[in-house]
Amino acid sequence: MADTNFQIHFRKSGVTAIWDGSHESILELAEAHGVDIPFSCRCGLDNVCESGLIRGEVSYPSEPLADVEEGNFLPCVAVPESDIEVDA
Ligand code: FES
Repeated sequence: MADTNFQIHFRKSGVTAIWDGSHESILELAEAHGVDIPFSCRCGLDNVCESGLIRGEVSYPSEPLADVEEGNFLPCVAVPESDIEVDA
């Protein structure tokens, strides 16, 4: 359980959600707030969920196997390390 809440802003959707550690990933948080991020494997393998990280930092509790383009991240396996802004 994280002891810090972060503000997660989804730019295209215009949705801001609070990360309070109760979701497994940023993808789960997005889904809980009706933000549509495509996904398939949900395990960091196929890049289907790959999204732009406009601002802030994320980390991966377990490092994904897929390569991610500079400036992007994999919401299905990522958690925030700061307030972030996502291009979704
Ligand atoms: S859904 Fe496959 S890498 Fe995220």
